[in-house]
Amino acid sequence: MKTRAGVFLLPLVFAAAAAGAPQTSGFVGSEPCKTCHADVWQKFYKNPHYKSVASGKEAPENTGCESCHGPGGAHLAAHGGKATIAAFSVLEPTEILDRCLRCHGETLARANIRHSSHTQAGVVCTNCHSIHKSPAPRFLLANNQPEVCYGCHADVRSQFSMPFKHRVNEGALVCTDCHNPHGAYQPTWRNGERPRMMDQVMAADEPCLKCHEEKRGPFVFEHPPVRVEGCEMCHFPHGSPNSRLLRRPVVFTMCLECHNGAPGFGRARLGDPVTPSTHNMRLPLYQNCTNCHSHIHGSNVSVFFLQ
Ligand code: HEC
Ligand code: HEC
Ligand code: HEC
Ligand code: HEC
Ligand code: HEC
Ligand code: HEC
Ligand code: HEC
Ligand code: HEC
Ligand code: HEC
Ligand code: HEC
Repeated sequence: MKTRAGVFLLPLVFAAAAAGAPQTSGFVGSEPCKTCHADVWQKFYKNPHYKSVASGKEAPENTGCESCHGPGGAHLAAHGGKATIAAFSVLEPTEILDRCLRCHGETLARANIRHSSHTQAGVVCTNCHSIHKSPAPRFLLANNQPEVCYGCHADVRSQFSMPFKHRVNEGALVCTDCHNPHGAYQPTWRNGERPRMMDQVMAADEPCLKCHEEKRGPFVFEHPPVRVEGCEMCHFPHGSPNSRLLRRPVVFTMCLECHNGAPGFGRARLGDPVTPSTHNMRLPLYQNCTNCHSHIHGSNVSVFFLQ
C-alpha cells in the first residue's frame, strides 16, 4: 500500500514544482495526504478547520492539513515519517501552544493563556482538545465535560459528590460555567489572590452572579465580605458536607470569625454598658444568626440585614 502511494505521489510533488509552485515553501495542499491517512482525511470535512480548504482563499500556510502540520513536501518525498513533518505526538508543549496560538492567539490572549496555571504546568491545547478524534459534540474536546477535567483533577470529582453540591456530575452545570480553562482575564482577584482561572466575562464580578443574580446588588447596605472576600469566604464552590454549601456546619461559628462573639456582643462597644438582652449567645435563640439577619448578602432596607 505505502509503496504504491509513494510511487503515485512523488510525481505529484514534482508536477506541482514544475507548475511553478514555490519550491522552497514545500506546501503541497491537503489532497496528497488522503492516500496514506485516509482515516483522518475522510473525517476532516466535518472539522471546523476544514473551512480554510472549502473557502479556497487562504494562503497555503493557513490551509487544511498544513495549517497545523506545516509544509508536507519533505514528508511526501520521504514517504512519511515523524521527523519530516510537525508531528504533535513528539512536539514539546510550547511548540504545540505556538502552533495553535498562531491563529487562536488573539481570542485566547484575553484569558492570559501564556501565563495561566495550565500553561505554566505544561498543560496545553492537545491535553484537552482532540483535533481528529473528538467524541464531544462541540469545541473538539478530547472528552466530554467534566470527564476531560477529571482526567487530571480526580479530587474535584469527589467534591461534586458531597451531600450538598452544584450538580456538575449530574450534568446541570459544567466546569466552564465558572472556570476558563485557558486562563483568567486578570492576574489577581479583587482580594489580591490568584483567581483560580475563574471565568471573568463579567469583569471583576464572580461567575457565581451569572446564575445567582439576586446576590449581585448593588445594595444600599452591603455586607463587606460578599464584595471584598467574595462568595468563597462562606461557601465552598464545588460541594460541601453542610447545607447551602457553607464552609462550616454551624453558621454562627462562621459569623463569629469576624464579629466578636462575647455575650451581648451586638451593641457592645468599648465603654458601652453591655445590654444583656443583646445577642446573648447562651440563649439558643441567638445562635441562628440568619433567622434574624436573613438578608445576609445585602439589603436595601435594613442596615442590619434584617427581614
Ligand atoms: C506515502 C504515504 C504518506 C503520505 C502521502 C502522507 N503521509 Fe503522513 N505519515 C506517513 C507515515 C508512514 C507516517 C509515520 C507514522 C508513524 O511513524 O507512526 C506519517 C506520519 C505523519 C504525521 C505524524 C503523526 C504523529 O505521530 O504525530 C503527520 C502529522 C502526518 N503524517 C501528516 C501528513 C500530512 C499532512 C500529509 C499530506 C501533506 C501526509 N502526512 C502525507 C505516510 C504518509
Ligand atoms: C487544527 C490543526 C490540525 C489540522 C488542520 C490537522 N491536524 Fe492532524 N493533528 C493535529 C493534532 C493536534 C494532532 C495530535 C492528535 C490530536 O490532538 O488529535 C494531529 C494528529 C495527526 C496525525 C496522527 C494520527 C492521529 O490520528 O492522531 C495524522 C496522521 C494527522 N494529524 C494528519 C492530518 C491530516 C492528513 C490533516 C488534513 C486532512 C490534518 N492532520 C489536519 C492537528 C491538526
Ligand atoms: C485545560 C483544558 C484546555 C486547554 C489546555 C485548552 N482548552 Fe480550549 N477549551 C477547553 C474547553 C473545556 C472548552 C469549551 C468551553 C466551553 O464549554 O465554553 C474550550 C474551548 C475552546 C475554543 C472554542 C471556544 C472559545 O473559547 O473560543 C477554542 C477555539 C479553543 N478552546 C482553543 C484552544 C487552544 C488553541 C488551546 C491551546 C492554545 C486550548 N484551547 C487549550 C479546554 C481547554
Ligand atoms: C490556520 C489557523 C488555525 C490554526 C493553526 C488552528 N486553528 Fe483552530 N480554528 C481555526 C478556525 C478558522 C476555526 C473556526 C472558527 C469558527 O468557526 O468560527 C477554528 C476552530 C477551532 C476550535 C473550535 C471548534 C468549535 O467547535 O467551535 C477549536 C477548539 C480549535 N480551533 C482548536 C485548535 C487547536 C487545538 C489548534 C492547534 C492544534 C488549532 N485550533 C489550530 C483556525 C486555526
Ligand atoms: C492534563 C491534565 C489537566 C487537565 C486535562 C485539566 N487540568 Fe486543570 N490543572 C492541571 C494542572 C497540572 C494544574 C496546575 C497545578 C495545580 O494548581 O493543581 C491545574 C490547575 C487547575 C486549576 C487551578 C488554577 C489555579 O490557578 O490554582 C483549575 C481551576 C483547573 N485546573 C481547572 C480545570 C478544568 C475546568 C479542566 C477541564 C476543562 C482542567 N482543569 C483540565 C492539569 C489539568
Ligand atoms: C459553581 C462554580 C464552579 C464550578 C461549576 C466549578 N468550579 Fe472549580 N472552583 C470554583 C471556585 C470559586 C474556586 C476557587 C476556590 C477558592 O479559591 O477557594 C475553584 C477552584 C478550583 C480548583 C483549584 C482548587 C484548589 O484548591 O487549588 C480546581 C482544580 C477546580 N476548581 C477544578 C474544577 C473542575 C475540574 C470543575 C468541573 C468538574 C470545577 N472546578 C467546577 C468554582 C467552580
Ligand atoms: C451556571 C449557573 C450557576 C453558577 C455559575 C453558580 N451556581 Fe450556585 N447554584 C446553581 C443552581 C442551579 C443551584 C441549585 C442547586 C441544585 O439543585 O443543583 C445552585 C445552588 C447554590 C447554593 C445552594 C443553594 C441552596 O438553596 O441550597 C449555593 C450556596 C450556591 N449555589 C452558591 C454559588 C456560588 C458561591 C457560586 C460561585 C462560586 C455559584 N453558586 C455559581 C447554579 C449556579
Ligand atoms: C458572610 C458569609 C457569606 C458570603 C460572603 C456569601 N454568602 Fe451566601 N449564604 C450565607 C449564609 C449564612 C447562607 C444561608 C442562609 C440561610 O441560612 O438561610 C447563604 C445562602 C446562600 C444561598 C442559598 C439561599 C439563598 O439566599 O438563596 C445562595 C444561592 C448563596 N448564599 C449564594 C452566595 C453568593 C453567590 C455569594 C457571593 C456573591 C455569597 N452567597 C456570599 C453566607 C454568605
Ligand atoms: C469575613 C468577615 C465577616 C464575616 C464572616 C461576616 N461578617 Fe458581617 N460584617 C463584616 C464587616 C467588615 C461588616 C461591616 C462592619 C462595619 O461597618 O462596622 C459586617 C457587617 C455586618 C452586619 C451589619 C452591622 C453593621 O454594623 O453594619 C451584620 C448584621 C452582620 N455583619 C452579620 C453577619 C452575620 C450574621 C454573619 C454570618 C452569617 C456575618 N456577618 C459574617 C464582616 C464579616
Ligand atoms: C433574634 C434575632 C437575632 C439573632 C438570632 C441575631 N441577631 Fe444580630 N442583631 C439583631 C438585631 C435586631 C440587631 C440590630 C441592633 C440591635 O437592635 O441590637 C442586630 C445587630 C447585629 C450586629 C450589628 C451590631 C452593631 O451594633 O454593630 C451584628 C454584627 C450582628 N447582629 C451579628 C449577629 C450574629 C453574628 C448573630 C449570630 C450569632 C446574630 N447577630 C444573631 C437580631 C438578631
